[in-house]
Amino acid sequence: MPTKPKTAFQCIECGAEYLRWQGQCDQCSDWNSLEPITIIVKNDIIESSSKVSRLVDVQEPKTSRLYSGFKELDRVLGNGWVHGSVNLICGEPGIGKSTLVLQSCIESAKNNQKTLYLTAEESEIQVKDRAKRLVKKIPDDMFISAITDMESIITIIQKEKPDVVILDSIQMVMSQKLTSMPGALNQVRLCASMFIKVVKDVGSIGVLVGHITKDGQLAGPKMLEHMVDVILFFEGERSLSIRMLRALKNRYGTTNETGLFRMRGDGLQELGSNYNLISDLNKSPLAGAIITAILSGTRGMLVEIQSLVVQGGYQNIKRTFVGVDSHRSHLMIAILDKFFQLKLASKDIFVSLVGGIKSQLPDIDLAICFSIWSSHFSRPLPKQLAILGEVGLTGEILPISHLDRYVGAMEVLGINACVLPKQSETDWKPSKSIDPIFVESIFDAYKLFNTLALKVKT
Ligand code: TYD
Ligand code: MG
Repeated sequence: MPTKPKTAFQCIECGAEYLRWQGQCDQCSDWNSLEPITIIVKNDIIESSSKVSRLVDVQEPKTSRLYSGFKELDRVLGNGWVHGSVNLICGEPGIGKSTLVLQSCIESAKNNQKTLYLTAEESEIQVKDRAKRLVKKIPDDMFISAITDMESIITIIQKEKPDVVILDSIQMVMSQKLTSMPGALNQVRLCASMFIKVVKDVGSIGVLVGHITKDGQLAGPKMLEHMVDVILFFEGERSLSIRMLRALKNRYGTTNETGLFRMRGDGLQELGSNYNLISDLNKSPLAGAIITAILSGTRGMLVEIQSLVVQGGYQNIKRTFVGVDSHRSHLMIAILDKFFQLKLASKDIFVSLVGGIKSQLPDIDLAICFSIWSSHFSRPLPKQLAILGEVGLTGEILPISHLDRYVGAMEVLGINACVLPKQSETDWKPSKSIDPIFVESIFDAYKLFNTLALKVKT
């Protein structure tokens, strides 16, 4: 049976579909937001090509990969870009998406890959200026077009057949088939599907740049997430230079890896596996500062937790938590108040993970407790000491997973003692440089704090 085209209407704001036009969208209450769309209704549900195969017999296509120019990006992608794949890189405005893709493009072009950068946000001159800051010599195989019209983009890709094609950004291009503005849901959906189709036809590596909304969601239809092969999030505190890249979806690899970068005057610099946010262990120790370790993807990384405990005013007590899980931090304060009568209820408490990095893992619970004690009593702890462990509601210190990854990071930096949960003792493999100190409960930990903490008042 032939397929019948049918007209329906779609809200350009929220994507809700209707059979008849109406003035207001029932879903998002926006007025005059419905645009006609054509839907193809397939009557022949059972297609003649329907077949079932044994899973073992399914032919695997050869996935050849291309070095992305950054080891950290390769790590997240699972060993480089895959030919014929469409990769979406999203993040807040100004975080460095364009810089990341441009640097990656330049590296591909240096390796004689024909690279096409389609810029819908900046002019060709602006991109050239930026490229000149990133490299001494712009490679010959790097091509550019400042363009926003999706139909022309498709023609260019079909004609040029680039090895790598970047579209920066999907929210700024528009198809003439629709009357809505760039960034509208139906525009994003249509333009993305046109881009994906042409990339797959030509066999290029397609990279789409996308914006995220204020609440961290990808700006565009949810469907876009299903359409692309890889979704990468580029994030970090804009005021700080550290940037983290993580995969939200990866059809060709794991989503557990993260890449670490630093934004500098000459572009993004990748931070190697041994990177830690603590630069100098020889500085004199300060009250409230405690070294602990977090996982960034599958890699252990040393970080510093800082707390400040001060007598609060008579009105509202201030509690501010940066980079640490606020629920767990409140819990730690409650545990310390209950078991050690520290009268924290009348104190303003600030806890922060230095460096703009976030960790939601409970493995840093005990370090938060040590940090609060240290600030409360104005007693610093020796700098070469790291603290790890989850604290249960009863004051029991619970085991941590991935101990080996944390220990690896500590050895690199020169930590010589580490407080650990007694329950993790079975996972401990003797280390040349680190002495473990096992604690069973928060009471053991408090005794240890009193033994280790320096008596000098700061
Ligand atoms: P950009 O890549 O344009 O961000 P996005 O595409 O995500 O909006 O870069 C954003 C910021 O990075 C910009 O404010 C300036 C800064 N930056 C540097 O600090 N060093 C550099 O070499 C470059 C190219 C940019
Ligand atoms: Mg940009």
